[in-house]
Amino acid sequence: MRVAEILAAGEAMERALALLEGGDVVAIPTETVYGLAADATNGVGVARIFEVKGRPRFNPLIAHVADLAMAERIALFDPVSKGLAQTFWPGPLTLVLPQWPGNGIHPLVTAGLDTIALRMPKGFGGQLIARLGRPLAAPSANSSGRISATTAEAVAADFGPKIKLVVDGGATSVGLESTIVKIEGGKLRLLRPGGIAAEEIEAAAGMKLWRGAAGIEAPGMLASHYAPGAAVRVNAANVAKGEALLAFGPRRAEGWQGAAALRNLSETGDLREAASNLFAHMQDLDRSGAKTIAVEPIPSDGLGEAINDRLWRAAAPRDKIDRAP
Ligand code: TXA
Ligand code: MG
Repeated sequence: MRVAEILAAGEAMERALALLEGGDVVAIPTETVYGLAADATNGVGVARIFEVKGRPRFNPLIAHVADLAMAERIALFDPVSKGLAQTFWPGPLTLVLPQWPGNGIHPLVTAGLDTIALRMPKGFGGQLIARLGRPLAAPSANSSGRISATTAEAVAADFGPKIKLVVDGGATSVGLESTIVKIEGGKLRLLRPGGIAAEEIEAAAGMKLWRGAAGIEAPGMLASHYAPGAAVRVNAANVAKGEALLAFGPRRAEGWQGAAALRNLSETGDLREAASNLFAHMQDLDRSGAKTIAVEPIPSDGLGEAINDRLWRAAAPRDKIDRAP
């Protein structure tokens, strides 16, 4: 069995760049925990992250930047967030901000949300992003349900042959994930406690951090924030006239010729390609003005589980949807 290659940070730059350019993933050290990184503008690379982690759903990921200028091309900074970035970056602070339209970030990174989580990491990660010239999407480098990895050996042991390269930067110095905050309605909210203490953030921001049950956005809840305006009908075996059709694979549902709009997640039935197209295609079909989006059946193995999870969430809140068995 092949296992991931482990290369010391000082020797890994060119190999890491080549893998990222090719739409593959690389495990990288940061000061908090190891991250499983892909080019945040490359949908197939980002889909690989979910595939390798075995995440049953598409939680939004943190986009890692090389500097504040890169961050400001991606998202709109309010004065408090900018002050926090200037104080704590590079470092274990993640800011959730409204994104600029057309910023090139693949919608799978943000799970289709119009906000984005941004962080500037220390060390090798920051250098890699600067060389790549594009942000890196990176969740913690651990299989879904396992604890975050703080050494290269732990990453390699967890993922085995599923990834090609682990960049070894030694044990991470912080050892727990970044603190995530968000300005909302003029309040500074703590979304996840982490590597920077809340008190330090309050002191730098000159304002109180809001927390508590109502203030914490569970990743699963976040994903449901984006729901299309159209109703969603999953596992559709046929298409009613005027419905939009979200297709999958080479064979079309009955009545597809009458669809108001059609997008195919993957002509060849490739789940990785389908995942990378999911949010953009849903948005396109929603914009078509059709009242309902019929979705062809999608297998539930591999990334199909997360794709189906997302589709069921989009379908769930509406009551007048008939679901094919
Ligand atoms: O230290 C860290 O933050 C590590 C290293 C690798 O940078 N990364 C990390 O990523 O912990 P991950 O994917 O395990 O956690 C990201 C968290 C999730 O809980 C997710 O819900 C939240 O960030 N998040 C991402 N985008 C968000 C958004 N637009 N709004 C609110 N929360 C968001
Ligand atoms: Mg994690």
